[in-house]
Amino acid sequence: MVTGGSSGLGRALLGSAPDGAFRVDISRSGPPDGVDDHVRADLAEPASWPAVGAAVAARVAERRWKRITVVHAAGTLDPIGFAGEVDGAAYTRNVLVNSAAGQVIGHHVLAAVSGVGARRELVLLSSGAARSAYPGWSSYGAAKAAIDQWVRVVGAEQATRGGVRVLSVAPGVVATPMQEAIRQSDPTDFPQVDRFEQLHEQGALADPLDAARRLWALLDDDAVAGGTVVDLREH
Ligand SMILES: NC(=O)c1ccc[n+]([C@@H]2O[C@H](COP(=O)([O-])OP(=O)(O)OC[C@H]3O[C@@H](n4cnc5c(N)ncnc54)[C@H](OP(=O)(O)O)[C@@H]3O)[C@@H](O)[C@H]2O)c1
Repeated sequence: MVTGGSSGLGRALLGSAPDGAFRVDISRSGPPDGVDDHVRADLAEPASWPAVGAAVAARVAERRWKRITVVHAAGTLDPIGFAGEVDGAAYTRNVLVNSAAGQVIGHHVLAAVSGVGARRELVLLSSGAARSAYPGWSSYGAAKAAIDQWVRVVGAEQATRGGVRVLSVAPGVVATPMQEAIRQSDPTDFPQVDRFEQLHEQGALADPLDAARRLWALLDDDAVAGGTVVDLREH
């Protein structure tokens, strides 16, 4: 089950899921082709979070699964621009989708899979913006830093009891619609736009399917402990 499975990395994760997987997209616009089920949700609306949790719980209860993997890939950079200058309502939506949704949906997912006898994984997508300060991306960077710390704490909790492997994964720079939006930003709003244009011109962006396959390989590696923040490029 992938939030943000309608585009970019989330879509590639569903497209490259292990053979025989039952694939669920959770987004506003999906589902993409080849997906078995779709949960329509606007994750900037807090009321959608328990509804997503209930949808996950319903699918978990449908049969005896061998493995349950939930990836929170939904994210947005909108509105790119400086705090104090961008639209306040759009800024609020950014905080809700990027920071709050991952934590609260994560909580509901853990409750939904509690006690289920399957291999269980919860992955939240992070970013280099959790550590490096990119002017124009304040709430996005703050959200990714919050997600990393949530994963460290909840990963430690699940090692105590629960048994779900919880990971934060920064995928590197991947050629998705999010990167297209970055390159179209106004340098006044995002002064480092040149850097991302250069990476694109140099062909340095990863293919979404390659990144997705690397993420699945990471999940197959039992040496990667829950509570870890992983840079996919270093694994
Ligand atoms: N691409 C990169 O270079 C890169 C680098 C570091 C981290 N990441 C992270 O990787 C993840 C995927 O990014 P991407 O590049 O694949 O982005 P993308 O192509 O722009 O896709 C974003 C996804 O998030 C969903 N989404 C956004 N707002 C939503 C909302 N309000 N409710 C429900 N779903 C929402 C979108 O679905 P709908 O529009 O259909 O709702 C879409 O499926 C994000 O968490 C991003 O921060 C990406």
